[in-house]
Amino acid sequence: MASQVDVLAEKALAEISACADVDQMEDLKVKYLGKKGELTALLRRMGSIAPADRPAFGQAVNDAKAKIEAGIEHRSKLLLKASREAQFRREAVDVTLPGRVRRLGKVHPITKGFQDICDIFVRMGYSVVEGPEIETDFYNFTALNTPPFHPARDVQDTFYITENILLRTQTSPQQVRQMEAQEPPVRVVVPGLVYRRDQVDATHSPVFHQLEGLYVDKGVTFAHLKGSLEVFIKAFYGEDKRVRFRPHYFPFTEPSAEMDVSCFACGGKGCRICKGEGWIEILGSGMVHPNVLRMAGYDPDVYSGFAFGMGIDRIVSLKYGVDDLRLYFENDVRFLEAF
Ligand code: DAH
Repeated sequence: MASQVDVLAEKALAEISACADVDQMEDLKVKYLGKKGELTALLRRMGSIAPADRPAFGQAVNDAKAKIEAGIEHRSKLLLKASREAQFRREAVDVTLPGRVRRLGKVHPITKGFQDICDIFVRMGYSVVEGPEIETDFYNFTALNTPPFHPARDVQDTFYITENILLRTQTSPQQVRQMEAQEPPVRVVVPGLVYRRDQVDATHSPVFHQLEGLYVDKGVTFAHLKGSLEVFIKAFYGEDKRVRFRPHYFPFTEPSAEMDVSCFACGGKGCRICKGEGWIEILGSGMVHPNVLRMAGYDPDVYSGFAFGMGIDRIVSLKYGVDDLRLYFENDVRFLEAF
């Protein structure tokens, strides 16, 4: 009988030292020492043993129990230590690793262009105002002296929403809206998006950016127009730039002029960039047409004014040497970070 106890103890100790898991260890404890455990089962057989042998048997079972308990405790400690070490290894933080760099955003070059240009005009006394991108046919065309059947109204160019509502093709409708909303003097610049039915390529986009300017008061002359725009160009592109005005036609100004800037690349001698001209066209301008003043409720015999409009995409591209409009809309961070 006593040898059976030893065999059982040997078997238990072997299983305990092979056990690699704390939960399994709990199972082993139950398996040998629990109420229905194997060692307890041996103890129950006490009755079938000769009375003389009982003390020795009892002693053997107690010894085996003590050995098994000691074995479990010893093995459990080892397992706990190993599992703690594994946990520390898992959760270890390598303090020598470089930190994660947070990428800072940048102002979009078009936004920056708008800000810089608006700042220049604000310094000259202008206010910055905005207007709706969804406009009426009246403000976009009729009020700007562009009657029905005028080529500029061609459906090819304009996104119509209904017969009388459209996506503005220019920021000019704000001229009339601003004059209606206030008494002269009016001195405003209007940054914003405009829309035309164009296919996308390096120089065209169905949505692009314009900045409109308007100055109306008593006694405003073409000399004021020239002076103001020259100040703007020198402030934006540099003091070395020269400007020239060429006669042009716009329905809402009379006389009208396009303004050129001396070439950025050759300074005016003529090169590939300016196609040998020495000059680069930069904006449209003119004296506000009497019909436009009348449409806004101003008396053209009392008030006069000048207006100008520029494509910001082009203005910014010329400043930074960007040769493809699409780059502004793709928002590749590598492009945006270059400014
Ligand atoms: N609205 C014109 C365009 O989109 C630009 C323009 C030209 C605006 C002359 C003006 C101006 O205010 O006087 O092409």
